[in-house]
Amino acid sequence: MENLMNLIRKRRTIRQFQPREVSLEILYKLIDLGHLAPSASNLQPLEFLAVTDQQIRKVVFSCLRWAAYINPAGDPQPGQEPTAYIIILVNSLIRTKGFEYDVGAAAENIILGGLAAGLGSCWLISIDRDRLCPVLGLPETLKIDSVIALGYPAEQPVVENYSGSVKYWKDENACLHVPKRNLLEVAHLNLYGQKFPEDFKF
Ligand SMILES: Cc1cc2nc3c(=O)[nH]c(=O)nc-3n(C[C@H](O)[C@H](O)[C@H](O)COP(=O)(O)O)c2cc1C
Repeated sequence: MENLMNLIRKRRTIRQFQPREVSLEILYKLIDLGHLAPSASNLQPLEFLAVTDQQIRKVVFSCLRWAAYINPAGDPQPGQEPTAYIIILVNSLIRTKGFEYDVGAAAENIILGGLAAGLGSCWLISIDRDRLCPVLGLPETLKIDSVIALGYPAEQPVVENYSGSVKYWKDENACLHVPKRNLLEVAHLNLYGQKFPEDFKF
């Protein structure tokens, strides 16, 4: 298993996938990682719905909006759609607000756990929830927060230094470039604006 810090640095959102199924065992393990995440007041309002069924997958896919900055260039190409989803649900009887922190922690656990198992993923909140909810047989009390699209990666996006725009782009080889703000600008030491003494190399 790869070192956790390397995994975190290596992780990129993946939107092109190989036509290879994800096993139920892996999906169940990922749900386990999601449900073990930190939870405010330990209220644990989240539930997780894995989707592998081909028909339901198609409907889920049709309810998602991908890579808004470069739409439609970032959409999964035909034959490169996700082969599984984990849908993060919120039990509104437990929490109706403030659950987003729990979702964030659970989603990242699932994403990193997936990466450790060789999976790429895309966390999505641009979802046509009104259309998706009835298809999934959800009771009124369960709300869809996020969808984690999963599959074996068929692209290798790269990080770029931020130079004035946060918008990711695709080059002529369909490689996705993702700008990230400069670490020196977002890291402060002791007093705001005070820099680390050295620009450590990782
Ligand atoms: C809360 C959240 C919601 C997101 N929603 C979407 C989405 O609806 N569609 C999509 O294609 N990507 C979505 N993303 C992925 C972001 O676009 C992606 O994380 C960002 O471009 C940075 O790329 P990186 O994940 O490779 O660092 C979402 C990410 C987060 C954290």
